[in-house]
Amino acid sequence: MKKDLLAVKDLSKKEVAELFLIAKRLKQTNPKHEKPLQDKTIALVFEKPSLRTRVTFETGIYELGGKPIYLSPQDIGLGKRESISDVARNLSLWVGGIVARVFAHQSIVELGNYANVPVINALSDLEHPCQALADLFTVYEKFETFKGLKLAYIGDGNNVCHSLMLLAETCELDMFIATPKGYEPNITTQNAQLLNDPQEAIRDADIVYTDVWTSMGDEAQKEERLKTFKDFQLNNELLKYAKPECFIMHCLPAHRGEEITADVLESKNSIILQQAENRLHAQKALFAMLYK
Ligand code: CP
Ligand code: NVA
Repeated sequence: MKKDLLAVKDLSKKEVAELFLIAKRLKQTNPKHEKPLQDKTIALVFEKPSLRTRVTFETGIYELGGKPIYLSPQDIGLGKRESISDVARNLSLWVGGIVARVFAHQSIVELGNYANVPVINALSDLEHPCQALADLFTVYEKFETFKGLKLAYIGDGNNVCHSLMLLAETCELDMFIATPKGYEPNITTQNAQLLNDPQEAIRDADIVYTDVWTSMGDEAQKEERLKTFKDFQLNNELLKYAKPECFIMHCLPAHRGEEITADVLESKNSIILQQAENRLHAQKALFAMLYK
């Protein structure tokens, strides 16, 4: 039976541990003989722009022996030019997998329901599971454990925050989340505390994570959000409350001077480029598991 990654919950704790081990091995050795995608074409269906996700998926697919086909919003018109069920069933006739970046999470669920090849969520309004996998693989590389660590997430309770919370729960990593009132994540998990005070959330944190205040699709709210989030900027003043050696994380793209200051983003404790690099390795590991 085909397996999808539509949301973090599609992976068990055991599968996440296995994925991290495979990612570590692929990163260290980049074996030339392991080609789980040999002779497979993978469709990349993107309704929104992307740098990291598109390039790491395309590169990863090539490295695993497959061929990516990128389909831009103009090409398909998911649910507009053609119904999602028809797109999913047609693509399944020709390709071995679908990676999709969509506005509405329901679109990725529908793709998964109608496709008979694996479907991978490359970001929806609710989740960004591949980002979370790369992020917690990065944390694991740094600490070799999740036990006793405190990850603070400051900003918008958005798709990146949701997937991070869900994967943190799987990995038993404690999270403290500070958002303005009304911008809390719309899920709760056992290992996460939801707060509205950034100083309280960041206190003694080992890792501090932030993301843009205005996600793709929310652009009409940008001005209002700039005002609402102004006390949630990750800057050196706020970082005084975290552990001095804490790591700084951001999924990128970043808006310097909004959710994070340039000096914090470029500081020696920033591991944002390691996160970005690990998108490639984590996604290759995911393919290796889905195409065993
Ligand atoms: N972090 C991330 O998903 O980046 P892109 O939007 O550039 O793919
Ligand atoms: N929350 C951001 C993440 C971008 C990778 C967005 O959805 O636009």
